[in-house]
Formats: sequence, C-alpha cells, structure tokens
Amino acid sequence: MQVQVQVKSEIAERISAIGVSSTMKVAADAEKLRAQGVDVVDFGAGEPDFPTPDNIKRAAMLAIERNFTKYTNAGGTLELKKAVCERHAVDFGTNYQPSECIISVGGKHALFNLTQALVDPGDEVVIPVPYWVTYKDIVNYAGGKCVFVETDEDQGFTFTAAMIEPYITARTKLVLINSPSNPSGAVLDREEFEKIYHLTSSRGILLLTDECYCRFLYSGEPFSIASMPGAKENVLVAGSLSKTYSMTGWRIGFTLAPAPIIGAMMKLQSHSTSNPVSIAQKAAVEALRGPQESVGIMLAEYKKRRDFVVQRLRAIPGVRCNEPKGAFYVYPNIGVALGRGIASPLQFCEKLLDKAAVAVVPGEAFGTDRHVRISYATSMHELQRGLDRLHRFIVEQ
Ligand SMILES: Cc1ncc(COP(=O)(O)O)c(C=O)c1O
Repeated sequence: MQVQVQVKSEIAERISAIGVSSTMKVAADAEKLRAQGVDVVDFGAGEPDFPTPDNIKRAAMLAIERNFTKYTNAGGTLELKKAVCERHAVDFGTNYQPSECIISVGGKHALFNLTQALVDPGDEVVIPVPYWVTYKDIVNYAGGKCVFVETDEDQGFTFTAAMIEPYITARTKLVLINSPSNPSGAVLDREEFEKIYHLTSSRGILLLTDECYCRFLYSGEPFSIASMPGAKENVLVAGSLSKTYSMTGWRIGFTLAPAPIIGAMMKLQSHSTSNPVSIAQKAAVEALRGPQESVGIMLAEYKKRRDFVVQRLRAIPGVRCNEPKGAFYVYPNIGVALGRGIASPLQFCEKLLDKAAVAVVPGEAFGTDRHVRISYATSMHELQRGLDRLHRFIVEQ
C-alpha cells in the first residue's frame, strides 16, 4: 500500500490532467475477454478492416530492400511532404508548400504536437460536442481549457457559426472542427464551414480542421476549408493516412499550417519522436501518389454497412439513431436502456460486454450521456452477429 502511494506521488501533475483513451480501454477489455475464450464482437475500434492496398505494401518492401532504413529529417522526407501537398492540391485545390508541412507519427501525434506548440495555460479551445475523445486530453495536457459547444441530436449533431460565436472570448486560441465527425458521422456543410472560417479569421483565431475522415463522405464532394482564398493564414489542417488508406499501424499523419507553426512543431518533434518510420514514409508516398481506387471501394462498402446498421438500430424499440453522413461510426441514443439498473452509457457498455460479448464505446468519452459509439468498419457478418446480440440485450433489459 505504502509503495503505491509513493509511486503515485512521483507521477507528474500534468499526467493526472489526462485519462486513458476510452477507445483503447474498450479494446483492452475486449481483448482480455477474447483471451479467456469468449467470442467477442468488437465494434470498439475505429480501424478499417481492409488490408493496406498491395501497391503501398510493395513500396514499403522496396524501401527495406533499398536500405531506406535510416533516420530521415525529423519532420519527414521532402519527398513525402511534397506528396502530401500535391495530394491536398489535387483533392481540394489548395497550394501548400513543403515548408508548410510536417509529417508526424499518425494524425494523433500531429494534433498533440500542434496543441503543445500553440496552447498556453489558460488558453481556450472551442470544441463542438460530441468530440473525438483525444481532443479533451491533449488540450488539458497543454494546460488549456476546453470550451464545449453543445449540439442538437435532432439536428444530426451539426453546428453553426452562430452556435460557436457566443463561446469565443479574448482567451480563445483555437476552434477545433472534425468533419466528418468521429463519433457522430455528422458532416458540416460547406456554407456553414465557410461562415465559421469567416468568424474565426475575423477575430484572429486559428481554425483547426481535423481531416482524418475527409475522403469518407457519403454524398457530395469532399472539400477542405483550407482551399478558401487566404485561408492558409488562419487554418491549420491535421491529416492522417490511417483511415483513408487503411494504414492505421503505419503511423503516418501530417499538419499543413503557416511555416512558423510548422517550425515550432518541428522543434518539439526533433526532441521527442524524431522522424516517423522511414519505411512507412515511403509507403505513404505511394499511397498519396499511386492509384486511389481503393478509397472509393472502401467508401462504397462503408455505405452499405452504414445503411444496414442504421436500419437494424432503428428496429430496436426505443433506440434513436441519426444517419451518419461520413466516417464509419454511428452514434445511437440508447437512453431507452438507461434507468433499469444501468445508470449510464459506461455501465451499459460494461454490461453489454459482460452479458452479450459486444464491445462498443460509451458516450461519456465523447461528451454525451445517452449514446454509445459503434464502429462499422467491420465485416457484414460481424455487424449482423453484433446487432442481433445488441437488439436482444436491449429488449431483455
Ligand atoms: C477524429 C480523429 N482524428 C485523428 C485520428 C488519428 O488517427 P491516427 O493517429 O491513427 O492517424 C483519429 C483516429 O481514430 C480520429 O478518429
């Protein structure tokens, strides 16, 4: 007991400002059960079930054969920075230069370093709810203050410039937007995104757009707010290859931002991770410059799954569910199951895993108290099995 107390007191205070990522905790709990031989259906992980496309894998193998296995520039190779800028230009009509780009160890690392580079203690970061779990912790870790903007489930969890404006103060450093959204699948329409850009730029506030799911949109054309004329001054883009090319394990993300901000991130990265894996960087160049068909194939499959999952969830008495417009998550309201020995989404998830062996993530992780997140980046067979179990679990409560 004494040892435990001692160890606790040795942990730095800034670590106590953050918690363990709930999505990773769900994955660990599911893994534990699986190790005991339980047949778990896992809707927890935000991870495409598709293999990384062959051309990308081959580029990595070639990199090894050619001994591209040494340190690179801490902020990534010039070749990859160019490939990121070119891809963004082709997809969205932007004109970033390599000096406005840094490659990081995944999108999460990009967001972490950006926050560390920009947020001082007491600075405010405006974030619409529901939000991706990590935003809260990385802002807290920097000593910043999250200012949450509640949204309306009946409006599909979308938000407007008018909803954000009252939360802007003299301490606001960043407005952080994730569209398509993890966890709700909500997509901000272009007009509203532009209004938010005008709002932030007119107040001298930076607009951070997390484009992790930008290519997974079920209707309409993907766009980046960074393509607005003059936007490069006030917009920060955090991007990732993880979902777009089913490369979660390769750990390649990037930031597009004004050169001084990139320079600040570079300083931090040079003393922490140094370069992202050299081999993964070569693979990423191929992902960005090679054939893009795999993205459309994955999107078409996600759309089929989305339609199936939404229809199955809506068939569960009392469950409400918006149709996701992008990404591969659905965020149903399971309020109907609360209050019958289950006080919260967290308890709902624990009991669902324990009694029905289905892993989903509780809404508390994303800032709401009547929802759970289901990832449908898994096979139709697993979706069928898991939704059968979920339906039974709720009805039998
Ligand atoms: C909204 C959002 N942003 C960023 C990331 C970061 O992904 P990665 O670090 O794998 O590139 C994720 C991953 O789940 C995400 O959901």
